[in-house]
Amino acid sequence: MVVAITGLLSYKQNRNQDEEDYQAQRASLQARLSLSLPHGVWQMDDSYTRLTLDAELGWASVVAIRITGDAGLNIGRSRSADNATLRDMAPAEKPSSDDVLLIPIIYQNREKLGTATVYLSRSQLEHRQHMHLLEILLEILLLDGLIFIVMTYNLNRFVFAPLKRLQEALNLAASSDDASALRLEQQGQDEFGAVTHSFNRIVDRISADLAMRTSAEAQARQERDNAKLALRQLVQTQQTLVETEKLASLGSLVAGVAHEINTPVGITLTTASHLATTTLHITEKLDNGGVKKSDFQAYLDTAKECCELILSNAERAANLIHSFKQVAVDQTSEQRRDFQLNDYLNEIVTSLKPRFKRSQTSIAIDCEDDLLLDSYPGAVSQVVTNLLVNALVHGFDEKPGGTIQIHAERCSNSEIRLSVKDDGKGIPAENLNRVFDPFFTTRRGSGGSGLGLHIVYNIIRQRLGGTIEVHSEPGKGSTFTITMPCIAPEITHREARE
Ligand SMILES: Nc1ncnc2c1ncn2[C@@H]1O[C@H](COP(=O)(O)OP(=O)(O)OP(=O)(O)O)[C@@H](O)[C@H]1O
Ligand SMILES: [Mg+2]
Repeated sequence: MVVAITGLLSYKQNRNQDEEDYQAQRASLQARLSLSLPHGVWQMDDSYTRLTLDAELGWASVVAIRITGDAGLNIGRSRSADNATLRDMAPAEKPSSDDVLLIPIIYQNREKLGTATVYLSRSQLEHRQHMHLLEILLEILLLDGLIFIVMTYNLNRFVFAPLKRLQEALNLAASSDDASALRLEQQGQDEFGAVTHSFNRIVDRISADLAMRTSAEAQARQERDNAKLALRQLVQTQQTLVETEKLASLGSLVAGVAHEINTPVGITLTTASHLATTTLHITEKLDNGGVKKSDFQAYLDTAKECCELILSNAERAANLIHSFKQVAVDQTSEQRRDFQLNDYLNEIVTSLKPRFKRSQTSIAIDCEDDLLLDSYPGAVSQVVTNLLVNALVHGFDEKPGGTIQIHAERCSNSEIRLSVKDDGKGIPAENLNRVFDPFFTTRRGSGGSGLGLHIVYNIIRQRLGGTIEVHSEPGKGSTFTITMPCIAPEITHREARE
């Protein structure tokens, strides 16, 4: 572009210069002919005049010169067709020209001898200017071509080739897994070298970061494995602890049961052996014939006492064993049927009356009418009995007084809520989470096995398909709330076996 503008400017300047030259030449031609022609024409020296004209025809812009004057003067000189020689012009010949110069021929400033008509043509000038323009255009083209070649070469060498190398290196680096392989080969000291250097610095930083992260990840993985191992060990320890706890509870339960059973069995044994000894004595006396009526009466009294003692203690032992056996209550033996909950709760309370008679505990039932259940009445009875006996034993410590409220209502179309609430001493917060645990009891050694509520929990969950919750505060009594479906779930064989 720059070259083109410069070329055009130079062309314009050249053109102006040519025009000026042309005008100057024209003026000097006029001056010369004004001076030289009068003499030849005055002398009528045609050959001299022709020579003068020919001399002026040496300027390429002059096409022809004709001299006309008095007495038939008509001399014309023009270039031949091939432009190589000069010839005379025919009298009426009119050469083609675009500029005509008329010069009067005045002899000694007095007498006009004729007129010289100079036919000028700018075509020569224009031709030269065209040639010049062509030269300039060619120059521009050549220069542009040269610049293009040089620039292409340089761009290729110093920009595109390094860019391509950079791109290839980046592609290679991007497809490589190894972070250190991302480093690019140094590409000289130019800008690309600087870019490569900066890129390599970034790669170094990323590599370092990556290495740090990888090692942190490995460490985290190691720590996670350690934590997993620790957790597994913890779970194992926990299980062992639970087992140990269970065994300890079972041990203490067995010890408690053994202790409880020990007394009635011991009494039974002692009484039985006492009865046996007394019987042996009376038999000996009978054999010797020395049995008095009073002796026999005394023996009968002793025997009666012993039998009562043996019976009551054996019964106590049997009861203890029975309660222990309830742990493995056979759930499949239970009958399922439809029953009205209100009636059934009244039946349970009535059957427990003798138990609560001594403590004069009042039991109030508040149950919605027409709560028909399709469930296991034996299980419901077992649950309610356990809760009532617990209230008596733990809530009221078997002391007189106390009130128990049994409340039952429908809480949805398919579920009922049954609660047993006492106003006894309540359960301390630390025990609240443990009351349903097997073997948890605060009465170990005095008849408590800690299985009552555990059995209740299992019966409600597995047999009745419900849930149980406890709310209690020390001094404010306890409430056990059961939510269960009106239609108990079917027991599968597998569950039944469990
Ligand atoms: N109504 C209640 N008031 C206060 N404490 C209670 C009540 N019901 C249960 N508990 C506490 O919960 C513990 C666990 O009760 P659970 O019925 O499981 O065992 P237990 O009554 O001690 O023994 P078992 O029922 O085997 O004779 C009781 O020892 C007692 O501390
Ligand atoms: Mg109990």
